[in-house]
Amino acid sequence: MCSIIGYYGKGSAAPILVKGLKRMEYRGYDSVGVATKSDNKIEVRKGVGKVTEVNDSENLDKLPGSIGIGHTRWATHGKVTKVNAHPHPSNSGKVVIVHNGIIENFNELKEDLQKNGFTFISETDTEVIANLLQQNYDQTSDVKKAIINTVSKLKGHYAFVAMFENGILAAARYHEPMIIGIGKNDYFLSSDVLGFIEYTDDAIYIDNGNLVFIDSSGIQISDFDGKPVKHQVTKVSKEFADAYKGDYAHFTLKEISEQPETILRAGEKTQSAIEQTSDFIKHAKTVYITGSGTSYNAALVAKYLMSKYAKIKIEAIISSELSTLPDSIEPNSIFIAVSQSGESADVLEAVNIAKKSNAKILSIANHKNSALVHESSLYLGMNCGPEIGVAATKSFTSQLAIIYKITDKLCDGCLGLDFKQISNSISNILSNHSKIQAIAKELKDVTDIYVLGRGIHHPIATEAALKLKEIPYIHAEGIPGGELKHGPLALMDSNVYVIIINPNDSTYTDTLTSASEIKARGAKIIGISDKKSDVYDHWIEIPNIKEAMFPMIEIIPIQLLAYYAAVEKDTDPDYPRNLAKSVTVK
Ligand code: F6R
Repeated sequence: MCSIIGYYGKGSAAPILVKGLKRMEYRGYDSVGVATKSDNKIEVRKGVGKVTEVNDSENLDKLPGSIGIGHTRWATHGKVTKVNAHPHPSNSGKVVIVHNGIIENFNELKEDLQKNGFTFISETDTEVIANLLQQNYDQTSDVKKAIINTVSKLKGHYAFVAMFENGILAAARYHEPMIIGIGKNDYFLSSDVLGFIEYTDDAIYIDNGNLVFIDSSGIQISDFDGKPVKHQVTKVSKEFADAYKGDYAHFTLKEISEQPETILRAGEKTQSAIEQTSDFIKHAKTVYITGSGTSYNAALVAKYLMSKYAKIKIEAIISSELSTLPDSIEPNSIFIAVSQSGESADVLEAVNIAKKSNAKILSIANHKNSALVHESSLYLGMNCGPEIGVAATKSFTSQLAIIYKITDKLCDGCLGLDFKQISNSISNILSNHSKIQAIAKELKDVTDIYVLGRGIHHPIATEAALKLKEIPYIHAEGIPGGELKHGPLALMDSNVYVIIINPNDSTYTDTLTSASEIKARGAKIIGISDKKSDVYDHWIEIPNIKEAMFPMIEIIPIQLLAYYAAVEKDTDPDYPRNLAKSVTVK
């Protein structure tokens, strides 16, 4: 949710920290701050806004010193204010910290610290860690002991980096991401490889429940009891270095435009994992598939696809809902978790619940070093490179591509997959962007959009509605075609726009009838189809492809529509308000 970064080296820390924060801003971006240490003095600067804005007003990158920490925030405890922004100093200012996650027992800890004379100026749980560290450091004069004593008191999920006045950087990781970047003469501690990829591709993925200490003698990693642990330096895959928007106005547009290539890379070099997955599914009594948000919509497509073409029953579960029915997972089942980040707390919790029923965990994820992949017996890589735009776009079609490959294996090639053709079809839709841009202009002041799809097109309608909510902030709802007369028709009038997902397949005629019924009530119809109809006020043409494959391409025009509508409304498509990319807290 938030991003944290630490730098220990010989260079000037502040500009490196600010650059790293800029690249990780998608993780959380309501406020930002940096602290550095020079001449035994720690200085903190912070403010509300995006990295560039706060840097312009506070000169974050001008702070002196070669050791420092930084943070971009996604508010959990306390409002979006300068005081609540990180880094947070302890009362004495001898320790400063940046933190990602939630400390569940922060109120109790705060009361204890207040009894011991500590005072608090922010509403955050982070300031509690800072003062607890201070208390433990004052008692022991030893950074390592101070950290060990502190983490033994914390409840919740967290990662933090603390900078001590003696110049030691110390970090703890507990169910929130933290990666060390190893440079030639310097070290980075970061939530994401994007924080340091410009400087080094050598990384240590710190295990859960580990501590890191960096000083002039180098780096030490231990467990929470202080026992040294072995660590491995790995090379960060090249595609994760590709986090620039190039000539594109926004990451979101870049990522939408990358889909002709990214769908070809999905599941690449994982033929044997796809075969194994299909084998596991074939022999399982029960199969579940789970995810959150967009990844859940991909899971829903899997449900339709596998049922229709492979005659396999698979239950799709919203990850965050599973904890309400924890006993519903049949013993020894197959549990497929779909997650771009591999970090979503809800997905990880669902996996945890499934494991208690002895389920075998298979994951479809983009980050192979993520917590989810760590928890899985088998991993299918989306390989779509970093997705910086907060709204998922290319990751969705990569997830679908893998799901299609598994289904095709299950039905002995019945889908006759031709991803080259799908890739060309997506390119074709992208090249037609000016028409979509013109429609987006009309949507600028529209408050409600409904998206209608039948059968396998319903999850696409739901995904389309999610994009319209997130990117241009338009209230949108996905409606299963047949449900129209059971309620939503009451909402149709001349103020409403309805997107009809209507490829010329077995759902075509029924969906066109629904479109006519809506039009008769005065609503405007945007038809997404390979076949023209007079019912549509606007027709967005998609290429004619094999029936089963339409979901892979019909989402593309709606991603573009959502993007261009946001541009028309002058909102930031990459960083929608109140959202963050990886939802690592519950
Ligand atoms: C939607 C979106 C979110 C994510 C959801 C799951 O555009 O970005 O709904 O899809 O938070 O994230 P992952 O796939 O990382 O688990």
